[in-house]
Amino acid sequence: MFQKIRYRLLSSYLVVFASLLGIFAIAVRFAFTRSLTEQITDKLTAIGKGAAANVEFEKGRLTIESDFRPQDLIAYHQALQWFDTQGNLISQQGKTSLILPFVPNKIVQIQTGKIPIQAVTVPIIASDNSQLVGYVRVSQSLEESHETLQQLDLGLGGGIFITLVLSSIGGILLTRQAMQPIEESFARLKQFTADASHELRSPLMAIKINAELPLEYPEEIGPKDAEKFHAIANATKQMTRLTEDMLILARTDRVSNQDRNTLNLTSILENIIKLYKPQAEAKQIHLKIQLTPNIQLIGDSVQLTRLFTNLLENALYYTPSGGIVEIKTSRVGSQLYVNLQDTGVGIAPEYIDKVFERFWRADQSRSYWSGGSGLGLAIAQAIAQNHGGLISVTSQLGVGSCFTVRLPTP
Ligand SMILES: Nc1ncnc2c1ncn2[C@@H]1O[C@H](COP(=O)(O)OP(=O)(O)OP(=O)(O)O)[C@@H](O)[C@H]1O
Ligand SMILES: [Mg+2]
Repeated sequence: MFQKIRYRLLSSYLVVFASLLGIFAIAVRFAFTRSLTEQITDKLTAIGKGAAANVEFEKGRLTIESDFRPQDLIAYHQALQWFDTQGNLISQQGKTSLILPFVPNKIVQIQTGKIPIQAVTVPIIASDNSQLVGYVRVSQSLEESHETLQQLDLGLGGGIFITLVLSSIGGILLTRQAMQPIEESFARLKQFTADASHELRSPLMAIKINAELPLEYPEEIGPKDAEKFHAIANATKQMTRLTEDMLILARTDRVSNQDRNTLNLTSILENIIKLYKPQAEAKQIHLKIQLTPNIQLIGDSVQLTRLFTNLLENALYYTPSGGIVEIKTSRVGSQLYVNLQDTGVGIAPEYIDKVFERFWRADQSRSYWSGGSGLGLAIAQAIAQNHGGLISVTSQLGVGSCFTVRLPTP
């Protein structure tokens, strides 16, 4: 149980932490990409302005000054293009593969894809009449900055991975530390329950013996007192059962491995059925039995007897006379299934999750006098889990219930 809580705590902590780191990484990546693009834009704009200053506009024609050496201006991964006002290419220099469609009113163009390119278009303004005479476009292959970004991604990813690994280790230690006092106090509470139930046994026994003693001489005490002693004896029997149940419940999950033996579940079930047959017959309930012979299990026979006794007792108790209780075993792979199906009162769907809770009973009003305390199924479930199995239930109100015990076989 604590393992599960610990695991849940740790995983939710890691999910929160990982999302925070993810957001952080995305923000860093975004800011970095933006500033990189801006930097390149600034650089390309400066080149473009330089190139624009070196053209002449004569008689409506754009020419590049003869002494201008554009290769001094641009690097190997850049290209320079001149366009007239109509967007016709007049001249170009540098890496010719950096060709994008010309869009005059778009200052910055970015092409992602196989060869990432960024281009900046600068208008050429004639110096004498301030008229637009053409455009210069400077392009640059972004391969280099992509490499930088890849390195950043790698760094961020690696950093996040290492941080997550480290914080999981820290988280494991922290949750262990945080859970320890809770686990300890839980164990103390359990020990207290076990001790208290155990200590209650002898005084209860004394009350029971002393209440039953006068009943053996009814002529001495008269019918009125006899009734009172009966009531005391009955109540004591109930309390004895309750304390025993509490003791079992407090102890079930620390069953030692030495109590576990290979046992024959078929014969355990047969013994229980033999014991409850008279009760079923008295209530005119038809017991249908269908057992696989020689089912081998590893477990504690006292506990498993208790488990199936509790289920059968319920089935007989909650089935009206004339009903049918069916016990069936089957095997799927390494799992053994024991089905107890009855045609009893059934359990309402809203309560189906509650039946295994301690002290829960569908009919609370009956609790004291009808003998049950509502611990039967809680004990059965604890025993099943203790054996690596589980009890599940399906039920329909007024039709019947089916309890299925799943147990692993060796
Ligand atoms: N076969 C069944 N058919 C219908 N209702 C059931 C059946 N088994 C259990 N229940 C419901 O689940 C409740 C809890 O069962 P559980 O065995 O834990 O307690 P109990 O039988 O009332 O008391 P105890 O078993 O401690 O004597 C019961 O009170 C009953 O309402
Ligand atoms: Mg019961």
